Amino acid sequence: MRPLLPATEFFTRMFTSNALALAEPFLHHEAGILKRILSESPAIKTVVVIGSGPLAYRELVRHYRGDLVYVGVDPYYQISGELAPKTFILNQRFENLRRHSWGSGPCLYVLWFNVLFYLHDPIDQLNSLLSPGDVVVNSGWSPKLAAQKVMEEYFSHVYYDSPQLIQPIIQQINQKKRSLKNQLPLCPAFKRFGNGVNFVEVLSS
Ligand SMILES: C[S@@+](CC[C@H](N)C(=O)[O-])C[C@H]1O[C@@H](n2cnc3c(N)ncnc32)[C@H](O)[C@@H]1O
Repeated sequence: MRPLLPATEFFTRMFTSNALALAEPFLHHEAGILKRILSESPAIKTVVVIGSGPLAYRELVRHYRGDLVYVGVDPYYQISGELAPKTFILNQRFENLRRHSWGSGPCLYVLWFNVLFYLHDPIDQLNSLLSPGDVVVNSGWSPKLAAQKVMEEYFSHVYYDSPQLIQPIIQQINQKKRSLKNQLPLCPAFKRFGNGVNFVEVLSS
């Protein structure tokens, strides 16, 4: 089943301060994992955040590793104004991303805040993108009761005027998570490079 893809206005609502406040337990957990990876992986040269919206985690990356290049990938979210040094935004889908869009060296790919649900054939794309030394963090809603409650509150806010969408979206997210659960770590790139590419699954919160 194809996911119910939200219209751009729903994506924009996901980044209002109210929505982000509701998702705070999720984001707090996710940020903690990223901080740890950034401080423990000195070889990483670039952080690529997929579904970056308003440049998610750019400040965190700057704070922990000022030397890194930050690449935000988001086809729908427009950023206006001048960008800080070493900061790039690619207004394109993850599925169309090519590695030569930025410099060389190991990358940390962050599949941010449940963006995986919105991607078509993410395993194929990861397989063509990944190189030895890369780290992939996939962050999604946990099946635990507390996380499901946070997710429901968050989507109730995002879809306040389309309540009929809330339960179908939640069901599809959980279904896709279950079907990718075993497949994603077996992505051929992870196998091909052995321990060269690391996969970290974050189930927040
Ligand atoms: C990070 S996801 C947030 C998902 C939400 N928190 C949830 O739980 O469903 C939302 C962002 O992903 C972006 N996005 C959607 N499809 C994408 C794609 N194919 N490639 C990259 N970013 C995408 C949207 O534009 C939006 O800014």
